[in-house]
Amino acid sequence: MRFNSVLISSFLLVSVGLTDCRRTGRRSRPYSGVEWLTNVRSRNSSNWAGAELGIDNGAFYSVIGTFTIPEISSPSSSGVSAWVGIDGDGAGGTCGDRVLQAGVTIYGDPVNGHIEYDAWYEWFPANAVGFEISNFFSVGDVIGLVVGAPVNSTYGLAMIENRTKKQAAIANLSSTYALCGQTAEWIVEASLEDDEPFPNFSPVTFTDVRAYTIGGQTYGPQNATIINITNGSEYLTSASVSEDSVTIEHV
Ligand SMILES: *[C@@H]1O[C@H](CO)[C@@H](O)[C@H](O)[C@H]1NC(C)=O
Ligand SMILES: *[C@@H]1O[C@H](CO)[C@@H](O)[C@H](O)[C@H]1NC(C)=O
Ligand SMILES: *[C@@H]1O[C@H](CO)[C@@H](O)[C@H](O)[C@H]1NC(C)=O
Ligand SMILES: *[C@@H]1O[C@H](CO)[C@@H](O)[C@H](O)[C@H]1NC(C)=O
Ligand SMILES: *[C@@H]1O[C@H](CO)[C@@H](O)[C@H](O)[C@H]1NC(C)=O
Ligand SMILES: *[C@@H]1O[C@H](CO)[C@@H](O)[C@H](O)[C@H]1NC(C)=O
Ligand SMILES: *[C@@H]1O[C@H](CO)[C@@H](O)[C@H](O)[C@H]1NC(C)=O
Repeated sequence: MRFNSVLISSFLLVSVGLTDCRRTGRRSRPYSGVEWLTNVRSRNSSNWAGAELGIDNGAFYSVIGTFTIPEISSPSSSGVSAWVGIDGDGAGGTCGDRVLQAGVTIYGDPVNGHIEYDAWYEWFPANAVGFEISNFFSVGDVIGLVVGAPVNSTYGLAMIENRTKKQAAIANLSSTYALCGQTAEWIVEASLEDDEPFPNFSPVTFTDVRAYTIGGQTYGPQNATIINITNGSEYLTSASVSEDSVTIEHV
């Protein structure tokens, strides 16, 4: 589905957006074992910061969140992504590291000084795919994200919504890798090229944060595991949660 206002001429832009999707799909998988909804824990990661809710028997089928495109300043072409997702980080069992996620990657461009954006979804281990939108984002745009996939099913959806414009792009998804629905997460991810420095970004706050289970429960992030990005003993982010929001700040 395409934004209403997108013109024929933007087909070119769309395909540029698709082929230009620079996310590598690399991610850290530093632990295994599912976290529990009632345990507040924290952990460190080399590239994920945010909050992750866990449930042992597999029940999340949809995750939503809204965030505002942050400012970024990067001394390299590294970017940061803000996304919501289901599974993906050590869920174990039959699901391993598969993950369904949707979000936006923001790249700084130190040479030309402009900012680039990719809006994408990914059902890992398949590659990220660009949403069919014209890829014109601005700092300060309010972006809604939804991912959904029935537990143990190989179909789902990803949606990105421009809250300011009240328009959405929706992707119907299929995969050979069914999700287990064991974790729901709201993440800022560093898309670091080899040995590149961590970009600076203004705080990202996911609001209206919800995860839905097939049992009919709705969870906020309050009991989620909080994840900070660290580099050795150095904290690169600080994450925190409230009743219905997750905030990730650059340190
Ligand atoms: C998604 O798939 C459903 C079921 O096949 C179909 O009815 C719907 O039109 C599709 N939507 C898009 C946006 O492709
Ligand atoms: C968080 O966990 C506590 C302790 O088990 C529980 O009482 C509370 O309902 C949970 N809160 C949320 C928002 O899930
Ligand atoms: C969202 O809407 C605003 C206001 O119309 C516009 O400036 C911005 O480019 C839109 N963003 C996307 C991703 O379409
Ligand atoms: C998903 O599949 C696993 C393994 O077969 C099973 O244990 C679990 O109950 C299933 N969950 C749902 C919600 O169907
Ligand atoms: C991590 O720390 C090493 C050693 O201090 C440094 O060379 C590297 O640039 C740092 N990486 C990031 C992403 O900050
Ligand atoms: C995270 O990293 C910091 C800095 O190295 C360390 O002090 C802390 O114990 C780590 N936390 C966890 C949960 O591993
Ligand atoms: C890392 O996460 C914890 C949550 O356990 C948070 O309280 C702390 O402030 C974070 N660390 C830093 C250095 O901000």
